[in-house]
Amino acid sequence: MSEGYLAIARKWRPLTLEEIAGQSHVTRTLGNALKSGRIHHAFLFTGARGVGKTTAARAFARSLNCARGPSLAPCGECGPCREIPLGNCTDVIEIDAASNNSVNDVRELRDGVRYVPSVARFKVYIIDEVHMLSTSAFNALLKTLEEPPPHVKFIFATTEVQKIPETILSRVQRFDFKRIPQAVVVERLRLICDAEKVNVSDTALRMVARAGEGSMRDSQSLLDQVISFGGDSPTDQAVADILGLVDRRVLHDMLGGVLEGDAPRCLDAIAAVYDGGYEIAQFTGELLELIRDTALVAMAPRAHKHMDIPVEERERLAELARGLPPEQLARTFHVLLEVHDQVARSARPRAVLEMAVARLVSIRPAEPLSGLVDRLAELERRLRGAPLAPVARPQAREPQSSPEDERRG
Ligand SMILES: Nc1ncnc2c1ncn2[C@@H]1O[C@H](COP(=O)(O)OP(=O)(O)OP(=O)(O)O)[C@@H](O)[C@H]1O
Ligand SMILES: [Mg+2]
Ligand SMILES: [Zn+2]
Repeated sequence: MSEGYLAIARKWRPLTLEEIAGQSHVTRTLGNALKSGRIHHAFLFTGARGVGKTTAARAFARSLNCARGPSLAPCGECGPCREIPLGNCTDVIEIDAASNNSVNDVRELRDGVRYVPSVARFKVYIIDEVHMLSTSAFNALLKTLEEPPPHVKFIFATTEVQKIPETILSRVQRFDFKRIPQAVVVERLRLICDAEKVNVSDTALRMVARAGEGSMRDSQSLLDQVISFGGDSPTDQAVADILGLVDRRVLHDMLGGVLEGDAPRCLDAIAAVYDGGYEIAQFTGELLELIRDTALVAMAPRAHKHMDIPVEERERLAELARGLPPEQLARTFHVLLEVHDQVARSARPRAVLEMAVARLVSIRPAEPLSGLVDRLAELERRLRGAPLAPVARPQAREPQSSPEDERRG
């Protein structure tokens, strides 16, 4: 690594639209526009952090300006193709609206727009974090957006589309970037690991992708951490440790314990979480997620499109959910949600969770009516002084004297 270490996310930034993972609805539409030559003059790329907005803006600028284009697959050899990714092309102007958000900044931009491009086909203005522009700056921009010279294209990017005025929204072609599905992130991480000669299992990459929560940048930064702490052959356990993630097995143990009413198993799982140095609140958070997935599997076996877990795990959940009324899962979820809030706020999260186990393992579906009738009959018999039938339930609230009293009386 003598050339200095370059973060994976930067080193592996896609240069072309086709390379961008998980956003095919965007790249396809842009590709069609490039092919047909009917290209709008202003675009808005919106979506969560680290899902490819800035990357797509630069790649699109390259597609627009390739000397052999415009093309979805730019040649990679001409001047613009080589200079744009390096940020050296004078006709592709990147503006960070977070620090250039005043009317004056926009006026400057407006003046610049009048000049024809010096080397490329189009002058492309990429305005990142565009929601940061002041109201007056937006107004100043409006004129230019209405009738820009034919050699100008605007690409706006933002994570907060709700902050963009309607007047601007109505003048741009909008693209919503999605969070990237876990499987797609894993595929990309695998490609990177192979090229970087990093030896790591699919399970480990799934842990990384899960922790990245649909952001490719976050996932890649986590992979950076895994490699810098775990070396080029990190074990699954090492990856779990580095991510501070809870081992999936412990999660499944806990879930099984809760749903099958097995308190000792739950307490063992909690101890394992604690001994591993994991955050209890993170554990309950993941447990919530897992119960939600189990409930979805139980309700609709084909609900996997709403889930981001691998096939084997889905099957395990289906097995667990078999025979359980969906209502029990829903109740467990709600109780756990409360517990999770308490755990997150408490200075003694472990104790809070342990105390909640009793509640969690006793969740049962609402009793069927016939059961209630039986219990009423039982109660009636007792009130009349008939001999007691053994009842498994705690009897604290029943109007009945304790053995102590009986002896005394
Ligand atoms: N869809 C994707 N396919 C492949 N790599 C991606 C994708 N999205 C992000 N990346 C990687 O993550 C890095 C950051 O992406 P990018 O800057 O495009 O995110 P962004 O959506 O603009 O995020 P932000 O809202 O934080 O600015 C890129 O350098 C690239 O390596
Ligand atoms: Mg960005
Ligand atoms: Zn080119």
